[in-house]
Formats: sequence, C-alpha cells, structure tokens
Amino acid sequence: MRCILMNKNKEVLTCEYDLATGVFTEVYEVKDINYAPYILKSCDKSSSFFRASLSEWFKKRGIPSWRDKLDLLLHRLNISAPYELLDKAFGLSLSDQYWLKEEGSDICYDDINFFDNDFDYAEFMEASLSNNNKLVIKESSLKTPNNTTDGMLRKAWVIDNGTRYLLKGGYKNEILQPFCEVLASEICKRLGFDHVEYVLDVYKDVVVSKCPCFITKDTEFITCYQIRNDMKRHDNLEDYEEYIKKLEEHNIENAREKIENMFILDYIIMNEDRHLNNFGIIRDVNTLDWLDVAPIFDNGQSLNVEYYDDEEMHIIGLGRLFYEVKSFDEIIKVVKNLKRINISELDGLVNWFDDLLHQYQYLTKISDKRIERLCILLNSQINKLKELVLSDD
Ligand SMILES: Nc1ncnc2c1ncn2[C@@H]1O[C@H](COP(=O)(O)OP(=O)(O)O)[C@@H](O)[C@H]1O
Ligand SMILES: [Mg+2]
Repeated sequence: MRCILMNKNKEVLTCEYDLATGVFTEVYEVKDINYAPYILKSCDKSSSFFRASLSEWFKKRGIPSWRDKLDLLLHRLNISAPYELLDKAFGLSLSDQYWLKEEGSDICYDDINFFDNDFDYAEFMEASLSNNNKLVIKESSLKTPNNTTDGMLRKAWVIDNGTRYLLKGGYKNEILQPFCEVLASEICKRLGFDHVEYVLDVYKDVVVSKCPCFITKDTEFITCYQIRNDMKRHDNLEDYEEYIKKLEEHNIENAREKIENMFILDYIIMNEDRHLNNFGIIRDVNTLDWLDVAPIFDNGQSLNVEYYDDEEMHIIGLGRLFYEVKSFDEIIKVVKNLKRINISELDGLVNWFDDLLHQYQYLTKISDKRIERLCILLNSQINKLKELVLSDD
C-alpha cells in the first residue's frame, strides 16, 4: 500500500507499506523529518537502515511479543501476530499522533483520531482482561487504540464519560500491580510529585488499575529510550546527567527535580521496572516544543517480597537507574537534595495501604500474612528514607 506517514495533520514521508508482512518496503520521499517519530530523526535518510528503523518503529507500536497471555489474546482476536492489527485503525494510538494515510485518500485526522472519536472497546476489554475465552467478532472492535499499546501487562483503553482511561491487570496470577499503582499515586499526591492518577476498578471480578490518558491531541509521549538512542553511552551516571542536560537545553523546567522525584518514589515502593520506556517527556506535536517531563506512570512492579517461613523475609527487588540494575540504596544517591521533600506527609501511609489491601481482600484473596509483610516492607523503606532526609546536608 502506498501511503503517507502522518503526524496529526503534517506529512512526514511517503512510503510503501506491505500489509502482509507489516514492513515498509520503500521510502519514496521524506517531506518533513522534524515531524517524524523522534527515534528516526537522527537516522541517515538515504540508507536502508532508515527504512528498517521505520519498520522497527512501526512494529513496536503493536502489542509486544512479551505481553502477558498474548497467545490467548491473539486467539480471541483471531489473528496470528500483533502487527496484523496495525493497519486496522491507521496505526493510531492514544500516546502520540502518528498514523498511516493511504495515498490519494481524503480521510483526515479530525475524523479518525481516538481523542475525539469514540471507539468500541467492550469486546477487546473482555478479551484482554477477563478470564473467559470469548472470541471477538465485531469488526469495529479491532478499530481501537488497543492495537497500539506497549507493555507487558494485559490492558485496555476504555471510554468513561468521555474520558479515555487505560485499564491494567496484574501479571499472570499476581494481583498486586494495581494496588502498587494506586499506592504510588497516593505517595505522589502527598509529596507533590507530577503523576498519573491511578485508581482501582473491578472488571468481572478482576481488580484492575485505571488511569486517565496523559496525552492530548496536541501532544505526544517520547520515551527516554528514544531520546537516549542517538546519544553516546558513557558511564551510567554520566548518561543520566546528559539526559537531564538535554531536557534542560529544551527548556523543560525543573527537569532534574522531576526525574529525582521518580527515583524517590521508586525507592519508597521498591519499583523494579523503571526501564527507559517507562519515563520520558511530552512534546507539542504542532510546535515540536518539549513541554515537560511526562508525569510519573507505570509503578506497578513494586514491593516485591517473598517469605519462606514466618520469620524470614527475603527481599528480592533491585531497582533500575538507566542502563544499570542497582540496589535502591545506591540509586537514591542521585537525588541531590532530599531535604526538599516533606517526608512527614507519609505519616499514616502504611495504615492507609493496609486498609486498602484489606478492603479488596474478598476479591484478591491476598493473605493477612502477606499484607502484613508488604506493610512492614513499605514501613521500612519510609523509615530508611526518613533517616536519609535527616542526614542529608
Ligand atoms: N495514561 C497514559 N496516557 C497515555 N499513554 C500511556 C498512559 N499510560 C501508559 N501509556 C503508554 O502505554 C505504554 C504501556 O503502559 P504501561 O503503564 O507502561 O504498561 P506496562 O505496565 O504493561 O508496562 C506506556 O509505555 C506508554 O507509552
Ligand atoms: Mg511500562
């Protein structure tokens, strides 16, 4: 199919997209590289590498191969690979404004984008999040932004009172993820960190987290991974510093503080999953200005603790600082000034979390013992942070 890669209303390039394989076989003309996906900007436009990178970028818009229970989802959708979904809704997403327009078509962004135009999410939501094995039959169920979601967890975009929300389940049989998302939101609220607000929801007896879309028709989310992609790698800490510098050069206010806030949160809840696609920046798609650090999101893989008997608690979590897996005690050292946070805002948080876990126990079946262990761990992280705040000079 001969088509144009669009960024909202701007033409980025013309190309040939092979529907059968989900690959771009030709790039005919680059019209405006500035509006291209950030990761493509620095590639040599004339090389076959550019075409390969374009294909790679587009494929990565699809549901990843490591999505939990992907085989079941594909079966219910009656397709054999996630890329088959990519042309069903122009490749549109709710995290940016890129889409593929067939050449000669007079379709326009306003008529098809999922920010303005409603989509039929019920069947996909059921296929993705419920435990039954119903097949998706309505063709309209495949014309949704659910064709272009990243990440390991089973998830679905839904519309509630006009607002677009992302629902996410737990991982495999683990149900803690949604609770950690909500805990993270509570911590961010108390400490005044920019964040995506997660609440709990129950879908067919499954507890899921629910958060509003943080992107609008005028913005896109660019991951740290994309931004770092064309930057030279040095020592891990230097890479971290260079990333902050880059954001500051683009006039993002308080970039350092905002990134530090994320690592403070990760310390408190022992988040193991802060890889480079789980944070980034928001760019204006019209002016291409870098607007802000993206609000903190995806904090579910936290408070990972195992215990083998009644006494021994075995803490297995390690954090992520850019390209390195490190202990949380090491990572927190990047925060230049801990005194700026009002740690007493966390008083009572452990009881709050304890209550929350008990409230949903009838659905989650998390044992009292486990809840107690989770609370002990959370309490211990808060106390350790308090000591760090006190000793910070
Ligand atoms: N509230 C949101 N608004 C817009 N895009 C989002 C939102 N939450 C997540 N995303 C996008 O969806 C991707 C997957 O979501 P994420 O929460 O990271 O799921 P997972 O826990 O499976 O990794 C993110 O990397 C981001 O690109
Ligand atoms: Mg993620």
